[in-house]
Amino acid sequence: MANLPADWNPHPQVMKTASDTLFAQQQTSIADFVFDEKVARVFTDMIKRSVPGYSTLLTGIASISHQYARPETNCYDLGCSTGASTLAIGSAVANTGCHILAIDNSPAMIQRCREHMRQTELQLSIDIICADLLDIRIENASVTVMNLTLQFIPLEKRQQCIDLIYNGLRPGGILILSEKIDFDHPQEAEWQQSVHHHFKKMQGYSALEISQKRTALEKVLIPETLEIHHQRLTKAGFQFCTTWFQCFNFISMIAVK
Ligand SMILES: C[S@@+](CC[C@H](N)C(=O)[O-])C[C@H]1O[C@@H](n2cnc3c(N)ncnc32)[C@H](O)[C@@H]1O
Repeated sequence: MANLPADWNPHPQVMKTASDTLFAQQQTSIADFVFDEKVARVFTDMIKRSVPGYSTLLTGIASISHQYARPETNCYDLGCSTGASTLAIGSAVANTGCHILAIDNSPAMIQRCREHMRQTELQLSIDIICADLLDIRIENASVTVMNLTLQFIPLEKRQQCIDLIYNGLRPGGILILSEKIDFDHPQEAEWQQSVHHHFKKMQGYSALEISQKRTALEKVLIPETLEIHHQRLTKAGFQFCTTWFQCFNFISMIAVK
């Protein structure tokens, strides 16, 4: 594998975005959060201001992908959204003979992802596919990434999802799994939630925006404890897993087949 370019930037110019003001006005009833056109338009701004350490997650995904991607294999970005994690993988595997498959079931996200991939100067072998990630065939994979995606999959389908990934990985292949997490101990859960809330406040979100978005996500983004993630990965057969990133209630794990 070649080195990462010295000027590699986790937020490349191609990821320009409108500002997120989706929850700024008082809403009479708050609908469940969906990854539609309105969200896709502001998504880069939204995720940077909502996920503490998001840039570090992307840098870590690039670095770990660089270490584990193998020529003539596939790298999957499951729940690619507008393509930031795809570009992180892409920066690590451009010109290496790796093929990237970027998957998302939101047509608005996939459209943005395609635009971003057209604009990047990276030479990528890539398919960008609008599909449910549970319906695709994962095969010959050296790297799979779920950056903040599993938390949106219904609880009862999460083991199936991790099993599909495990079965499609080559021996020694990896899953990078980033998630918002929950905590068993109520005091710890409350503390983590309050520092996350404060982080968003410092990013310029008002108390109203934070509270309305939380309500919209309540039934859609279901976090689990680190222990449950570990158990699921172990049950699937992964021989090793560890947490390589944590910032407040956001973590990223790597699991090796
Ligand atoms: C928080 S975003 C992921 C962020 C992105 N990976 C990044 O690093 O910027 C979650 C994405 O998962 C997608 N998603 C949720 N459920 C899905 C499913 N069943 N199949 C495919 N994509 C899904 C959503 O459309 C959304 O774009």
